[in-house]
Amino acid sequence: MSLKLHWFLPTSGDSRTVTPFGPDGHFRPPTLEYIAQVAQAADRLGFDGVLTPTGTPCEDAWLMTAALIRETERLKFLVAFRPNALTPTLAAQKAATFQRISDGRLLLNVVTGGDDDEQQRFGDWLDHDQRYARTDEFMTILRGALSGQPFDFEGDHFNVAGATVSQAPDPQPKLYFGGASTAAEEIAAKHVDVYLMWGEPPSMIAPRIARMRQLAADQGRTLTFGIRLHTITRDHADDAWKETQRFLDLVDDNRMAVSQDQFARTTSVGQQRMASLHKGSKENLVIAPNLWAGYGLVRSGAATALVGNHSEVADRIEEYHSLGIDEFILSGHPHIEEAYWVGEGVMPELRKRGLLAENPALISRNTGQRISYPNTAGR
Ligand SMILES: Cc1cc2nc3c(=O)[nH]c(=O)nc-3n(C[C@H](O)[C@H](O)[C@H](O)COP(=O)(O)O)c2cc1C
Repeated sequence: MSLKLHWFLPTSGDSRTVTPFGPDGHFRPPTLEYIAQVAQAADRLGFDGVLTPTGTPCEDAWLMTAALIRETERLKFLVAFRPNALTPTLAAQKAATFQRISDGRLLLNVVTGGDDDEQQRFGDWLDHDQRYARTDEFMTILRGALSGQPFDFEGDHFNVAGATVSQAPDPQPKLYFGGASTAAEEIAAKHVDVYLMWGEPPSMIAPRIARMRQLAADQGRTLTFGIRLHTITRDHADDAWKETQRFLDLVDDNRMAVSQDQFARTTSVGQQRMASLHKGSKENLVIAPNLWAGYGLVRSGAATALVGNHSEVADRIEEYHSLGIDEFILSGHPHIEEAYWVGEGVMPELRKRGLLAENPALISRNTGQRISYPNTAGR
């Protein structure tokens, strides 16, 4: 029962296509009401948490998730933020407050940033490796301040005396982190709880896990591994593959060219690896069994989807799990509908295989027993 499945909040908007702006009428703006519907679906279906991204196109992750605490019951919020945008002591204070007001539902995704234009927009002129050196210092102070004891640190990027929070949060929020460069790997091995990767094929993921395990062991640590994938899962595999064709038919060539130009200039090693999977072409997008790279033609970040019937998608999750991945951050378009496909299709399959715990939304808080509903005997 070691798998954790998370979902994703589309805080830059949702649609029925891969591109944020599909044909007229397809776009769903990221209103609080809509994002709350996605979060509530994830909560009821039994996802452990929801990743909430950071970046100019997205609504602010801290504010959006704080507004969702009282809209949801037990769902955790994996809040992405960048160390260039706030001090580590302020990040610790926000995290401590969030843990208290949400009763421990915060997880942190520390995002170093891989796009120079995006970083400069926020006033950050450091280069790729300098940014990671700052993240290293940031996480040292963040952990120190969250301990609740005064923490002193003098580095190249931060200099704090007595950094702390009024009361150490309990539990401490787990630190998640993605980044595929050498600089990212070294820092992850030193600081993080969960090391995240975008959905590369198993053959590319396995050596990364082996390398990260060794780097962490050199620091006397162990890591949990997570992967970020889209899904297109249906009762019948044909229906899932038809959906990929529908997505492709809606991909506009101009938009594809703009995205490819952007990927060609990125300093993010993770993004370069994602772009190498589709090579900017609509041909040969099935890059491993049930793994489709079409998302990456127009979207940065997570560029691949697990496609197939529920049992095939569960097979692939099991395959990644056998490589060492315990946490899956999934998403799909539109995010409410696809959450239900996963929740009602793939999750029961994983439970049958003994890989996923019972849906906590169906367990009584009072008795700890499964709540019994009429007409569900034996289901
Ligand atoms: C699962 C995952 C989620 C990420 N989320 C974000 C995000 O919300 N915003 C962002 O700017 N970068 C995000 N990133 C990018 C990384 O945090 C990192 O800054 C970038 O990949 C550059 O690192 P690299 O050159 O080491 O690959 C994410 C990466 C991964 C693997």
